[in-house]
Amino acid sequence: MAFPLLLLITSFLTLFIAYKLFQRLRFKLPPGPRPLPIVGNLYDLKPVLVRCFTEWSQTYGPIFSVYFGSHLSVVVNSPELAKEVLKDKDQLLANRNRTRQIAKFSKNGMDLIWSDYGPHYVKVRKLCTLELFSMKRIDALRPIREDEVTAMVESIFKDCVKTENVGKPLVLREYLGMMAFLHITRLSFGKRFMNSDGIIDEQGEELKGILNGAIKLGSKKSFAEFLPWLRFLFKAENDALAEHDYRADTFTKKIMQEHTLARKKTGNTKAHFVDALLTLQKEYDLSEDTIIGLLWDMISAGMDTTTITVEWALAEMVRNPRVQQKIQDELDRVIGTDRVMTEADIPNLPYLQCVVKECFRMHPPTPLMLPHKGNTNVKIGGYDIPKGATVSVNAWAIARDPKLWKDPLAFRPERFQEEDIDMKGTDYRLLPFGSGRRICPGAQLAINLVSSMLGHMVHHFTLTPPPGIKPEDMDMMEQPGTVTYMRTPVQAVLTPRLSGDLFKRVAVESV
Ligand code: HEM
Repeated sequence: MAFPLLLLITSFLTLFIAYKLFQRLRFKLPPGPRPLPIVGNLYDLKPVLVRCFTEWSQTYGPIFSVYFGSHLSVVVNSPELAKEVLKDKDQLLANRNRTRQIAKFSKNGMDLIWSDYGPHYVKVRKLCTLELFSMKRIDALRPIREDEVTAMVESIFKDCVKTENVGKPLVLREYLGMMAFLHITRLSFGKRFMNSDGIIDEQGEELKGILNGAIKLGSKKSFAEFLPWLRFLFKAENDALAEHDYRADTFTKKIMQEHTLARKKTGNTKAHFVDALLTLQKEYDLSEDTIIGLLWDMISAGMDTTTITVEWALAEMVRNPRVQQKIQDELDRVIGTDRVMTEADIPNLPYLQCVVKECFRMHPPTPLMLPHKGNTNVKIGGYDIPKGATVSVNAWAIARDPKLWKDPLAFRPERFQEEDIDMKGTDYRLLPFGSGRRICPGAQLAINLVSSMLGHMVHHFTLTPPPGIKPEDMDMMEQPGTVTYMRTPVQAVLTPRLSGDLFKRVAVESV
């Protein structure tokens, strides 16, 4: 028994090494750290991948190779190469790499985010552009955003004026995270899972359970991912994935049934995504799996990203009282102190808009964007990228490159007053949402929401560091992960600056 197994493993290894040698000789691959057999560069990676890759780009140049196990990934770190990947050769590099977990949840790419480029992708992308993220729908969904932002402000206010909390710092991530959860689940699933007393209902608890389950599964570093030929050994993992998938599907189907019944009863179609997708199902020929996939895409792409951006933004407010004061002056001048901000005010708040851009420059929540995958052999920067390799754009490194930005590590929103730089995919120096055919379809919605959250927070409160902490001592490092939360959740002492009756939630019914 032992001998055939040994023979099998040796044959695999020989084949693997021969294949890698063949690849090396056949292709002129970008330089990079030396990979070891089987594990590739896994042994060499530092936990915060984006910082590790930025360091490597100093050694190996603006394009380098890195092996995750046996899988080749190429990282580009300059605007010229980003343009080559996202514009010039966009269509050749518009596929996605699906891990086992992702392949399971996306039904092998039946959604949008994880779909390969092809007829299915083109169809659902068109649906997103023309229907889900049209200006008309983003506007129709505005009451939900304003309801949730004001609910967040109200709950922070209630906590910070409690006698035992006065002068004490609050951990802001909890409020931002709850706001992002309530907003994105209302947008996708068409209902608020928390009542006005702050109690999450049974369905909301199930939803949170599903989300926590996904985080738990996603955080497990599985060797099965990188060693495909050993996957049969990971049965327990496969079972856990199947169970999670079933739970999420059951939950979503129930929500879809509820909305179908409600539409039949009232004859009304709401603006939220479940109703939109169910009413467009025939026109766009959408399978049930695609509808479910799209709904979960929105949750996974639109929840953490918002929380993360606003948390970094608030940390920058605490660290930069000058900037905070300047936004407050603008808010007081444009809005005054007798009413709260609305999204309609944003066009009249140019400095706030520059601050939001500066936050996206310094702290893009998906700093390596989402990896693209080649559907054919392609040349980038004069190097060969073999079919199936993934390509990541290091938007974080580009946005901090001293060759491109004056004083790049300084938080200085004025840079965007001096030069009007677009952040929605036309200027390759600033790519928080990517660019080209896979650019984030939720970019405008996200910008509105982030601007509104930051504007409200700074209009309603003055934020100062916790007692005894100097702004320059705050931990501004990232936590490891695909999305980059702050390593240490930001804490701030909040002093209300408007009259008490303006800290009330502006509630709306289902939209
Ligand atoms: C701060 C907020 C956000 C940031 C920084 C962000 C950034 C990104 C980035 C970098 C990508 C990958 C682009 C690429 O592959 O080239 C992406 C894709 C995507 N985002 Fe966002 N996003 C944000 C918010 C949202 C929101 C609120 C939604 C939806 C409600 C959303 C939905 C999506 C979807 C569906 C994709 C996949 C697009 C595709 O593969 O074609 N995002 N986002």
